[in-house]
Amino acid sequence: MLVLGLETSCDETGVALYDSERGLLADALFSQIDLHRVYGGVVPELASRDHVKRMLPLIREVLASAGRAPGDIDAIAYTAGPGLVGALLVGASCAQALAFAWDIPALGVHHMEGHLLAPMLEAQPPAFPFVALLVSGGHTQLVRVDGIGQYQLLGESLDDAAGEAFDKTAKLIGLNYPGGPEIARLAERGTPGRFKFPRPMTDRPGLEFSFSGLKTSTLTAWQQCCAAGDDTEQTRCDISLAFQQAVVDTLTIKCKRALQQTGLKRLVIAGGVSANKALRASLEDMLASIKGNVYYARPQFCTDNGAMIAYAGCQRLLAGQRQDLAISVQARWPMEQLPAI
Ligand code: KG4
Ligand code: ZN
Repeated sequence: MLVLGLETSCDETGVALYDSERGLLADALFSQIDLHRVYGGVVPELASRDHVKRMLPLIREVLASAGRAPGDIDAIAYTAGPGLVGALLVGASCAQALAFAWDIPALGVHHMEGHLLAPMLEAQPPAFPFVALLVSGGHTQLVRVDGIGQYQLLGESLDDAAGEAFDKTAKLIGLNYPGGPEIARLAERGTPGRFKFPRPMTDRPGLEFSFSGLKTSTLTAWQQCCAAGDDTEQTRCDISLAFQQAVVDTLTIKCKRALQQTGLKRLVIAGGVSANKALRASLEDMLASIKGNVYYARPQFCTDNGAMIAYAGCQRLLAGQRQDLAISVQARWPMEQLPAI
């Protein structure tokens, strides 16, 4: 089955062609980061309008690079939520219109299920069951995964998502949007030990997260440096390192706990923050210490992309899942509501 995947939930237009027999044939992405950077974050209306502009040229581009024609496509998978409603509607309308014109089915895919399954596109995909750490701009969740659509939420953030904490902290210390890659870049030049921030909620049992207090500690440290005339590039690097270490340690402690609680030794990390090298290294070490394995997607498939949507949609379409022509999207959509296949 050849599936065209469309992703438009936020600030990236992603398109890909996935073949159930041959694997990923082509993928293309247009990132709107430059468009939103001047505003310090995503402006929903600008995002929607840009998706409209980019979608059809990107579809032509993936078809050309895969050497395929519209008539070869068996189905279209699109992100139906969670995300920005206007942005989601662009992908949904486009998918339904093309599916109607080409007389093929279209299927709405859950964005976080797409992220969760992205490591399946790699050479050594994880086997079920496993624990997944989903860390994106909107979500921080630990999930027990027994199969596609068999998700048990083990714990999640009570306030900011991990990616959101990176983005907001970066903004507080004067870095560009998106903050995650910026903090990671500056952290490489940070002085270890100059700052030490709390590891929130690690001193009590449970698998919940909270990152807003960490953000405040970081702001306080930065304001003290500013008052002392030490608002330098090096201070930004030192704060970035300490902040990143606090997030990485916190996520690692909670992942270890989730593995102990479930008795599992396979951990999947997915979503934009799973591109973070320090997080990957810390989790590799932790999994090595318990003789387990950690799985993640290549960096460009950790952040938003069309390939993960084409893959997730393909699995559900192969299982016979279909939907009608209604164009409906969901800003909020708990992943546990998805049917098992
Ligand atoms: O999954 P994603 O592309 O979009 C959502 O579904 O939200 O995640 C974007 C988030 C942003 O908050 C961004 O700052 C963060 O992922 N991010 C990173 C890194 N690359 C992206 N955070 C830390 N380190 C990175 N290398
Ligand atoms: Zn995402």
